[in-house]
Amino acid sequence: MTPNPPEYRYVMQFRGVDQIEAQRSRSGTENSRSIRYNQKFMLRYFTAGESHGEALTAFLSGLPAGLKVDQAFVDRELWRRQQGYGRGGRMKIERDTAHILSGVHHGITIGSPISVQLENRDWKNWQESLPVGEGDPAKHKRVASPRPGHADLAGALKYNFPEARYILERASARESAARVAIGAIAKLFLRELGIEVLSHVITTGSVTVREEVPWQEIRSLYDREEVLLNCANQEIEQQMKEEVDKVLKTGDSLGGVFEVVAHHVPPGLGTFAQWDERLDALLAAAVMSLQAVKAVEIGSGVSAAFTPGSLVHDEIGYQATSGFTSFSRTHNNAGGIEGGISNGEEIRVRGYLKPISTLRRPLQSVDFASREPVKAAYERSDVCVVPAAGVAAEAMVALTLARCALDKFGGDSMGETLRNFQGYCQQLKDF
Ligand SMILES: Cc1cc2nc3c(=O)[nH]c(=O)nc-3n(C[C@H](O)[C@H](O)[C@H](O)COP(=O)(O)O)c2cc1C
Repeated sequence: MTPNPPEYRYVMQFRGVDQIEAQRSRSGTENSRSIRYNQKFMLRYFTAGESHGEALTAFLSGLPAGLKVDQAFVDRELWRRQQGYGRGGRMKIERDTAHILSGVHHGITIGSPISVQLENRDWKNWQESLPVGEGDPAKHKRVASPRPGHADLAGALKYNFPEARYILERASARESAARVAIGAIAKLFLRELGIEVLSHVITTGSVTVREEVPWQEIRSLYDREEVLLNCANQEIEQQMKEEVDKVLKTGDSLGGVFEVVAHHVPPGLGTFAQWDERLDALLAAAVMSLQAVKAVEIGSGVSAAFTPGSLVHDEIGYQATSGFTSFSRTHNNAGGIEGGISNGEEIRVRGYLKPISTLRRPLQSVDFASREPVKAAYERSDVCVVPAAGVAAEAMVALTLARCALDKFGGDSMGETLRNFQGYCQQLKDF
């Protein structure tokens, strides 16, 4: 069969032709398929850049004109992603700052695509070993043996490289910094609607916070100038630090659980009308897309599976409140989403992070060249990144909510979007 020309694939991807789209392989067979969801969202975003390349870039297209962009806020979000006890030496080199190249002038969005660049300060140490031009092959830094749990082996097989340098360059979570930069702009948009998105850490290794943490406590974590494990309970946070200290000594690594909370989200974002428009599904994909996240939970989704319905579902009442409506709930096990639609309660999404796969005491692997058994490659690495992953997940949740809000309220200028939003809020009040 004749392969589709690239322009055809572009049309299929962005015009919303019914999908799953077959992206035919160069050999003309149909066995290389990539899944693309049906929908053309108003807000779109991409990132580009390698871990040790010159810079990361992010694109955000579809925001209305007239949104104030606070550079200090964006840079503080980037700083937050770089914090946390258990980070490696890389974070001491990088001090991320967002260089906005387009789409923002005189401090406001102008309705055209936003592009942001983040310099990789480490690039100066890699210019010779990872040049854009051909360079000197003798200076190339090979990743000779794939790390179990990282993208090295699967990526080398897929892209047909004899070792894993180019694979880890893009698979690395350095990429998530670019998402945090545009996620910060999405947060600024959501703020105009009164929505805030933050995270906290629930579990590090075997140490867990058992009670639900109220929004005000999560909010006060944001103001901390020193971030340890971003846990609201300081006693438990110290126990978490001890867990990290243990693996620092033994050359091991740790995973954990973070929770992202979106506060003051109106009911009505997302819909059950189609499978790829459900808010829970969109959030799950967005958070799962982060490096090392291996499970996503909405509300108390996991424990709900083991609990009778009478103890799970959030009973409904009606009393005058300051919320979007006067409907109230006894608790929020649903995590703010029912039927794929936000229900007006806080949205709570948890991400479960596997332990970092680069180990100072490496696991068994195989040498790419000789096929002989060897220890997996080691390159300077974090040992625990749960707080940072939480910040990156905030960005993904904010981008997803901004996307759904814009699909619902539309608008080419903030005035138009806010007018539509306020009209809808009035409709909710009048319900
Ligand atoms: C904020 C953050 C920082 C990370 N830092 C490292 C790291 O220093 N070393 C490492 O091996 N993995 C690190 N990871 C995890 C890897 O990027 C991830 O395991 C790898 O890309 C393979 O993808 P997968 O785990 O989703 O399968 C980090 C993840 C996050 C979210």
